[in-house]
Amino acid sequence: MTHKSSTDSYGSVAIGVHWLTAVLIVGLLASGVLAENAADPATKATLLTLHAPMGIAVLVLTLFRIVWWWRLDTRPDPLGGNPAWQEKLAKAVHLLLYMVMIGMAASGIGMFVLSGSGDILFGGAPGPLPDFDNFAPRGPHGIGAKLLMALLVLHAGAALYHHFLRRDATLRRMWFASTK
Ligand code: HEM
Repeated sequence: MTHKSSTDSYGSVAIGVHWLTAVLIVGLLASGVLAENAADPATKATLLTLHAPMGIAVLVLTLFRIVWWWRLDTRPDPLGGNPAWQEKLAKAVHLLLYMVMIGMAASGIGMFVLSGSGDILFGGAPGPLPDFDNFAPRGPHGIGAKLLMALLVLHAGAALYHHFLRRDATLRRMWFASTK
């Protein structure tokens, strides 16, 4: 496997960024929901100390991914054999995933900056946590979380459908092994 993609499979950089982002997003959804529901302020602060750097890592990876596809690599050819509406839906879901990931990171950073709670981000003494509901980016961050969960169900559901029902190479070629 090479670091760049070929006409029939993804390269190691694209695969690595994809799965690292996937793990971080699962961690972000879990830590975000737990923080939202945490009654104890110290637990909430600890969760947000993990949550914020993971969110910034997703932002960096997503910006890197955009530059990577734009300037440095070319996506494999579509596998073919799928109805046009499915190809269009997949493209729309991918585009929305990029937009929501960037929007989530931007609104998260916005909450930290506006509330002056950057100490939590950098692991310093957190002090009393602000009520994030008082800051405008909290609304979009909550809506984006629900949207992201729905997109992930569609995205992962489609991958599993291709792998187990269609039995094609859609999921296999996004892994570190030959598609043959
Ligand atoms: C892709 C990136 C991100 C994802 C997927 C994500 C996900 C989430 C989720 C699911 C929630 C709970 C929302 C709810 O239940 O209404 C949440 C809350 C929160 N997130 Fe993020 N987040 C991301 C980035 C960030 C970043 C970069 C920061 C800060 C620098 C941040 C700070 C917060 C804060 C302060 C809360 C509110 C906790 C509360 O109100 O109790 N997030 N996030």
